Amino acid sequence: MSTYSAPLQPSRTTATARNIDPAVAAAVRSGLTASHKSLPAWLFYDAEGSRLFERITLLPEYYLTRTERAIFTAEADRIIAAAFTAWHQATGDGHITSDGAGKLRLLELGAGTATKTGILLAAAVRAQGETSYLPIDVSASAIAEACDSLAQTLPQVNIQPEIANYVTDVLGIPPHNGPTLALYIGSSVGNFAHAEAVAILRNLRAQLQAGDTLLLGTDLVKDTAALEAAYCDADGVTEAFNLNMLRRLHRELGASFDLSTFRHVASFNREASRIEMHLKSTRNQYVRIPALNLSVPFQVGETIHTENSYKFTRESIAGLLREGGFSVTQTFTDPQNYFAVTLSTVAASS
Ligand code: TRP
Repeated sequence: MSTYSAPLQPSRTTATARNIDPAVAAAVRSGLTASHKSLPAWLFYDAEGSRLFERITLLPEYYLTRTERAIFTAEADRIIAAAFTAWHQATGDGHITSDGAGKLRLLELGAGTATKTGILLAAAVRAQGETSYLPIDVSASAIAEACDSLAQTLPQVNIQPEIANYVTDVLGIPPHNGPTLALYIGSSVGNFAHAEAVAILRNLRAQLQAGDTLLLGTDLVKDTAALEAAYCDADGVTEAFNLNMLRRLHRELGASFDLSTFRHVASFNREASRIEMHLKSTRNQYVRIPALNLSVPFQVGETIHTENSYKFTRESIAGLLREGGFSVTQTFTDPQNYFAVTLSTVAASS
């Protein structure tokens, strides 16, 4: 059970028109007035949500982060070598020159605090003495944290951060005279529906050259119990993370959610191959949202859909990459086949 589900006290800082984020207001209005209620996943990541998410990645049930890290630790040198090989094959150019031309650089979509990326950066430094790293993330604070810790641990890495939303913004990646290895890890691609995932990959592909590579981290389809446990842990951290979205609406919009009447639900939808996260009302009720001048009716059992996390097979990964303009070079996985790290190259004709 969660220790976070006490009923909310009246908001101390009353939400006023002055401090309401219009993007939050618009998203909440459209999501909660739809016939199937939903809230967008980006609402999870306020300061408290980001803190809870870091705790999720450390949970015993949440195998994703530590499995992907173990794959990186075991395979980092081979991944870097394979990225060089793809470049040499496509360009016939294998010379690392003293001015840095020909050196491999790393780029990362949704870098966050980049805690796992250091393993790959260290391998690039072993291979060529130094490297450049271009983390792209919407969160300036996460990027700043990544820069600080990498400056301490890997001073041979030249960091060129970009604060951008890789879903909505055109990526402004500076040209490079040498191979680029793009990282899209953490099964983040799994939080998007197929068409959106393809669009993200194509947006990236448009910035890359022949011989560049993409390393994609994806969670794999497995037995339902293991999947569901990862999104419904015994300590209630994921529950608190999900419910924090309602707390946020209370803080920012004055919404009168009684958290003791909403349950965290995470279930595997095998037909759609995704974990769905919902918040389920345990009674018939109205929730007032003063800042939106809205009263939202809930029937007992009705849910707010807050997140999807798609689960993949080797075939669905290859299909997604193909549609995104990449072709699979090599797949790295763990002994249990729980998680896949797939290296792919920019496809010639897309
Ligand atoms: N992409 C990861 C996953 O789907 C991390 C993540 C995103 C997540 N949203 C989440 C984990 C919500 C738990 C709950 O697992």
